[in-house]
Amino acid sequence: MNVDSNELKLKREAEFHNERYASESENREPVQKYYRLKKELDEKFAQKVINKAKNGKVLEIGCGPNINTIHWVDLATESWAIDISEVAIEQARAVMGANHSKAHLEVMNAESMNFDDNYFDLVCGKGIIHHLDVNKSYQEISRILKPDGLAIFIEPLGHNPIINLYRRLTPKMRSDDEYPLLMSDVKLAQDYFEHTQITYKNMTRILAAFAPKGLLFDTAKAALGGLDSIINTILPFTKKYSWMILMELERPRSKR
Ligand SMILES: C[S@@+](CC[C@H](N)C(=O)[O-])C[C@H]1O[C@@H](n2cnc3c(N)ncnc32)[C@H](O)[C@@H]1O
Repeated sequence: MNVDSNELKLKREAEFHNERYASESENREPVQKYYRLKKELDEKFAQKVINKAKNGKVLEIGCGPNINTIHWVDLATESWAIDISEVAIEQARAVMGANHSKAHLEVMNAESMNFDDNYFDLVCGKGIIHHLDVNKSYQEISRILKPDGLAIFIEPLGHNPIINLYRRLTPKMRSDDEYPLLMSDVKLAQDYFEHTQITYKNMTRILAAFAPKGLLFDTAKAALGGLDSIINTILPFTKKYSWMILMELERPRSKR
């Protein structure tokens, strides 16, 4: 992508999210039933992040208005959160409330960040890498991460044909430039980090979303989660059909 087309892409991405966050009419109710299935990955993310954030320098990228930094701002020595959308940062400040002065919240492009090399103990985000040029973002994250730092993200995967059909039927919910990660994008992380660990979640388990809240949902979730484990163990190539992954990236390779 040349400089001009990349600038246009960033502008489109900022405009899409500015509009989305400013619009009070946006209705994300229909997707909430699927998002219930994120809970376990969210909990694992939270646990890893909180451990690493203690007395460390932390950066959240693509924070959106529902900024996660609020959960560790009192533990970290320095907290930063960035987003390409001004509206996201404005609303994130409001969400942080009195805590906002303890963190640095800035409009910044995650593909080219104004931080020194080896600066952060932790770089994290939810649903952000798939909005970026994957190559550039891994390069930037590995550059700013300390040698013993951790980068951790929750991202969607794009190989499941049924989930992809749903995505094609609901195009307005996504920006023109984002795309769920492919395994080639996930594997590319190995060029920038010596240690990468991927947790896959929600293959057949995504069907539990159609169960009503309560016992039925919990039972379907447990049964289908068990089924996913069996299928993924016997046939490891099926992991790519999961809806989501938790990516843990450590030991950045030497800076280029
Ligand atoms: C799917 S939203 C996720 C927001 C938030 N992390 C959450 O989980 O609710 C993706 C976010 O990435 C931001 N974003 C997109 N491209 C970006 C870029 N190049 N640099 C920084 N943020 C970007 C968008 O403005 C948006 O807020």
